[in-house]
Amino acid sequence: MDLLEKIESLKQEVNNTLVSNKDQLESFRLRFISRKGVLNELFNDFKHVSNQNKRLVGQALNELKNLTQSRFKTLVKDLEEKEGDRIKAGFDLSLPPVQNTLGTAHPISSVKLQIIKIFERIGFNVSDGPEIEDDWHNFSALNFPENHPAREMQDTFFIRKNPDIALRTHTSSVQVRVMENTKPPIRTLSPGRVFRNEAISARAHCIFHQVEGFYVNENVSFADLKQTLFYFAREMFSKDTKVRFRPSFFPFTEPSAELDISCLICHGEGCPICKYTGWTEIGGAGMIDPNVLEFNKIDPVKYTGFAFGMGIERITMLKYQIKDIRLFTENDVRFLRQFTSLY
Ligand code: PHE
Repeated sequence: MDLLEKIESLKQEVNNTLVSNKDQLESFRLRFISRKGVLNELFNDFKHVSNQNKRLVGQALNELKNLTQSRFKTLVKDLEEKEGDRIKAGFDLSLPPVQNTLGTAHPISSVKLQIIKIFERIGFNVSDGPEIEDDWHNFSALNFPENHPAREMQDTFFIRKNPDIALRTHTSSVQVRVMENTKPPIRTLSPGRVFRNEAISARAHCIFHQVEGFYVNENVSFADLKQTLFYFAREMFSKDTKVRFRPSFFPFTEPSAELDISCLICHGEGCPICKYTGWTEIGGAGMIDPNVLEFNKIDPVKYTGFAFGMGIERITMLKYQIKDIRLFTENDVRFLRQFTSLY
């Protein structure tokens, strides 16, 4: 009989249906279950079935109806499980992509590297020393007299109540560390963190970075020092940068000088940045005091040397026109992102 055969083949079709997405599920629903679907159509046809066949066809029809409904439920459940698995496994392809932003070097690290590269070209290597220092390396071996004001509490962070141990106040301590282990000629650069008990402001911080450099050999002169720093200033800033040495005092150098470069904004004309002087200070320098060589068992008759120390924050602020030293440690990404093109 036609109708029974049709129902039988529909049963097979229902049983064989698989869906892998919502659209396919909806097609199944439309074809079988919806108001205009196959089932309703068959129930309409049922009216015309002869009385003697009604029982048989009715039974088959009901079986098809139950089968279709239970199949639909199963398909819904399978699809939900499949989607759940996909999300659980981290494969929800409908999610927007996660932004993958790369980190870059901090401007202080980047300038430190630039400084190292400039000095490496004229034969300086890089050396390192501890940030927690003893009195000998930070002060005594650098010719600080016993009662020098820089040893007092307001400048130096001491460790607990031990006045012999402190956070280094300058990278000159690395001069001592290197000299006690190396024979001249020595030509080395020591960048690093230093600590001073100072009030934090736009211009000063209690933690900052210096780069120390020194050269010990026979016949090292003040002219060598000047030429070295002149070369550095021109490489670091620009070819037309001028350098000026102002007489100064440090216990570990004699003679000593404060190192100025011509103002990068007005090129020496005078502007608010350089306070109308045309110059800005970037560090200290001088000829290593013979006492320091002697403390470190280097013959001060045979050898002379020069040393310099510069502030890395200061150099970075001048180079990139940064007006507040606190920006370096606030970790504000809006500030840091401005340096993503540096290495
Ligand atoms: N250590 C000095 C300072 O921190 C800088 C300096 C270094 C001066 C080397 C002379 C020679 O101010």
